[in-house]
Amino acid sequence: MRTLKAEHLGSGREAKHWPKPSLPEYAFIGRSNVGKSSLINMLVGVNKLARVSGTPGKTRNVEHFKVEDAWLLADLPGYGFAKTSKAERGTWKRMIDTYLLERENLQCVFTLIDTRLEPQRNDLEMIQWLGENSIPFVIVFTKSDKLNQPKVQSNVALFRRVLKKTWQNLPLMFITSSETRKGREDLLAYIEGVNAGWER
Ligand code: GTP
Ligand code: MG
Repeated sequence: MRTLKAEHLGSGREAKHWPKPSLPEYAFIGRSNVGKSSLINMLVGVNKLARVSGTPGKTRNVEHFKVEDAWLLADLPGYGFAKTSKAERGTWKRMIDTYLLERENLQCVFTLIDTRLEPQRNDLEMIQWLGENSIPFVIVFTKSDKLNQPKVQSNVALFRRVLKKTWQNLPLMFITSSETRKGREDLLAYIEGVNAGWER
């Protein structure tokens, strides 16, 4: 497996703490515990680059990583963690809105969905919000190793049916597993394709 050169650039809640937007950037968003940090580690092939934890809600800031000196990854704090207070949810929403609406080098938001679950309201709301704000995104199904293949396919089909109710054109979808590295090559190829269109 090809390991990519990657480094942690920094961690911050406000735009002034984030790295200069001089490279194409990809953000990872999704419910707490969906596997954002694990997917980042799987993509770059470095085990402990992003912090993975059994306790949900560990990532509180936007965590930036630089890969191959050519593109940036942003690990965003998860949503939907039951123990989060209302005030913390407000802080999360303001930070995420600012990030998603104002980060000028943002090329695509990888919206992570747990393959095992039926379509969840907060995931659908996130997707709706991205669409309404014209923010480019794709859907990444995670933890596909935890189900058999037919169940993965039927859950993805259900998700597509639900999206079809509001969307004429469905976004790109990737089925992944950080355990088996399923989807890695497809995601990296997608990122490379978008990077190729990046203009300084
Ligand atoms: P927060 O930062 O709390 O929002 O979580 P996160 O979305 O970054 O999830 P994280 O990567 O920390 O993973 C949460 C748990 O799920 C960890 O115990 C991981 O080992 C596990 N996990 C993540 N991805 C996979 C996967 O593809 N397969 C399996 N079997 N477990 C996974
Ligand atoms: Mg995380």
